[in-house]
This record gives sequence, structure tokens and C-alpha cells, in this order.
Amino acid sequence: MRSRRRPDAFTRRAKSQGFPARSVFKLEEIDRRTRLLRAGQRVLDLGAAPGSWTLYAAGRVGAKGCVVAIDRTEIRGAMPAQVAVVTADATTLDTAALLALGISDGPPAPYDVVLSDMAPSTTGARDVDQARSFALFESALSIALAVLRPGGAFVGKIFQGPDFPLARKLVRAAFREERLIRPEGTRSESYEIFVIGLGRLEPADSPPTGEPTV
Ligand SMILES: C[S@@+](CC[C@H](N)C(=O)[O-])C[C@H]1O[C@@H](n2cnc3c(N)ncnc32)[C@H](O)[C@@H]1O
Repeated sequence: MRSRRRPDAFTRRAKSQGFPARSVFKLEEIDRRTRLLRAGQRVLDLGAAPGSWTLYAAGRVGAKGCVVAIDRTEIRGAMPAQVAVVTADATTLDTAALLALGISDGPPAPYDVVLSDMAPSTTGARDVDQARSFALFESALSIALAVLRPGGAFVGKIFQGPDFPLARKLVRAAFREERLIRPEGTRSESYEIFVIGLGRLEPADSPPTGEPTV
């Protein structure tokens, strides 16, 4: 049975700033350390509920940008006009549908940034949770590689386990730079970490090493 946690300082601060969850400080730190988000960008937010990352990203991209927020759970809170919310399993949406989301007038367009904070429902069995987390990470990376513009960025959450080196290798093969960030707001008992790819390589630029593709 799940215990109800007492709200910690991060949770209280998030609520006081109008964010539904403490996770906002993880994205804030990643953004600060990698200069990820800018005005006017088009951002895809996978595993977006309850909406803290979406709200933060919407603030950073501003009214001329766009954030497409997808979660299999409904996002209930009000969102600014530059946010398009989709309730769906992100792993089931095809590339053409993803590229068309959030565009009311004009052709489908690639994204500047793909974020994935997707996490499986945990079972308590560490190996099972790690394997499920890796599967979600792999799906998110596969989506990112299909919808990012060259030069774009990817942030993906993973529970560290036996597949973690492969996750890193896949990101290094497709991006100019790989970064690992375990934000300060991460709970001490958590084994999650974010694998970040900066500067999506054009397929012709990818290392000619027979690196695996997703
Ligand atoms: C840690 S929460 C995300 C918190 C969010 N970034 C925020 O700041 O509010 C993880 C989310 O991943 C979602 N999720 C897991 N698997 C998913 C899938 N296949 N498709 C869409 N959402 C998924 C869960 O429903 C859950 O809401």
C-alpha cells in the first residue's frame, strides 16, 4: 500500500508558486544548467500530468511558443493558450499525428525540445520497475528522433538499472552532447536520473560506428 507523504519544502514551494507538483524544480534546474528552453520554441512534453513541467515550459516559451502536453492521465488544471493538452498513451501516437499537434493553422512542424518525465506505475520490484522505465525511455527517445528538428534537444527520465549504459549510448549516437543530471529536487531514495541530448545530429552527422539506432 502507498503511504501518503507529508508535503516537503519543495512541494510547499511548488504549490505557493502555482505549480501542482514539486517536479517543476527538476526541470527548472535542467533548464538552468543546459540553457534548454527559449522564447518561441515548440516543445513536446511526454508524461505531463499533473502539469508542472508543462506550466514551467509554457512560461519559458511564452505566448509565441507552443507546448504539447501528453499524458495517459487527464491533466485537470487550467493551462495558458500556448499549451495543447492530449490525453493518450504517448507510445501509441504516430509521427504524423505528433507533428500536427498544437498547430491550428499551418503545416505540421518539428519540435525544438522533447521532454519525457514518463514513469511507470511502480511495483516495488526494482528490476521490473527499471525495465519498464527503460522501455518508456526508449519510446520517448524514439519519438524524439522522429519529431525533433536538427539541433533540437531531448530530456528523458530513467530509473538507473542494467539498461542505463545502453540508454546513454543511444543518446550519444544521436546528439552532439550528452549530459546526465540528477536534480537537487530528486527524492533521496529515488534512483531516477535524466539523460539529456543536446544538438540533435542530422542522420548523416551521426557517428559512423554502427551505433544502434532506436
Ligand atoms: C512523474 S509524472 C510526470 C510529472 C510531470 N512532469 C509534472 O511535472 O507534473 C509521470 C507521468 O508519466 C505518465 N505516463 C507514464 N507512462 C505513460 C505513457 N505511456 N503515455 C503517457 N503518459 C505516461 C504518468 O501517467 C504520469 O503522469
